[in-house]
Amino acid sequence: MAKADASKLDWNNLGFEYMDLPYRYTAHWKDGAWQDGGLTENSTLPLNEAAVVLHYGQGAFEGMKAYRTPDNKIQLFRPDRNAARLKNSAERLLMPVFPEDKFVDAVKQVVKANADFVPPYGTGGTLYIRPLLIGSGATIGVHAAPEYTFTVFAMPVGSYFKGGMTPVNFTTSQYDRAAHKGTGQSKVGGNYAASLLPGENAHKDGFADCVYLDPVNHKKIEEVGSANFFGITKDNVFATPKSPSILPSITKYSLLWLAEHRLGLGTEEGDVYIDQLDRFKEAGACGTAAVISPIGGLEHNGNLHVFYSETEVGPVTKKLYDELTGIQFGTVEAPEGWVQVVE
Ligand code: PLP
Ligand code: COI
Repeated sequence: MAKADASKLDWNNLGFEYMDLPYRYTAHWKDGAWQDGGLTENSTLPLNEAAVVLHYGQGAFEGMKAYRTPDNKIQLFRPDRNAARLKNSAERLLMPVFPEDKFVDAVKQVVKANADFVPPYGTGGTLYIRPLLIGSGATIGVHAAPEYTFTVFAMPVGSYFKGGMTPVNFTTSQYDRAAHKGTGQSKVGGNYAASLLPGENAHKDGFADCVYLDPVNHKKIEEVGSANFFGITKDNVFATPKSPSILPSITKYSLLWLAEHRLGLGTEEGDVYIDQLDRFKEAGACGTAAVISPIGGLEHNGNLHVFYSETEVGPVTKKLYDELTGIQFGTVEAPEGWVQVVE
């Protein structure tokens, strides 16, 4: 694959596609310790055919972004939270933890080395960063790998769901992406493999993606395959599901805080029943890639429930979006410790 060329990119019309940038960071774990990591130009990973990640899915990843500010600085949004979540995912899959301070440092090195690829402020583009931790050592029994690889690569992206801040419709899925006490809270590849078929079925039926219901009774909303769910109730509460099988979204927890402290809304992390959608005047999907994608309608058992509108963004969703993205791009004051400038 050809290396990406920053001078040829159309910053205003970026999609969400892989690009092979000049630099990535790689480190290896062997004999009980992380070896010195560093930047490399090689975008391929050498893997033994019996690497545990290939057979038994021992791998976890993160998704985060670097943002260009109006004064041309580059900043990260809560990278310490991604480091902590990768630690949790690693522990769940019996992988060695990549030290959290070194994680943030590796991310900064990658962003700095590829700074030409951080889209200009005002284009809406960002640099999407993908840290990845895999069991790269070989074993054929079902055991943890004897060796691990940690890598961080990046690429400029635009919006994940078509249209960004324009409403999209979702449908509920008959499938589960994660078991009740399975790996839903961890950002591990298997959850995403499980979501490919339901996601494809939703696309074929004309929906942006599907919304999963709780794996025990299929009565409560869990999340989207690539984002968490939130709704704004008619009495102005930002409500979002609480479940052991959904990913603890950093965007969602940020929105919970902003809803309460900046917008003066009530907040609630609890049960969101699929047969009680009338509670909500607005709804959205939130995540690093998705940012906030307003949910126009949600189809369930053949009925489409429209929240605010299928074509227009609700006012509370818009306020949340402006507050969140203002902080991320450095135009709105960030709560203490939320942004880190890449020097
Ligand atoms: N849920 C799933 C399944 C995801 O893949 C993501 C993306 O990371 C999210 C939620 C949102 O999490 P975050 O806001 O930390 O990006
Ligand atoms: C993210 O928002 O970073 C994600 O990981 C979602 C998706 C691209 C898998």
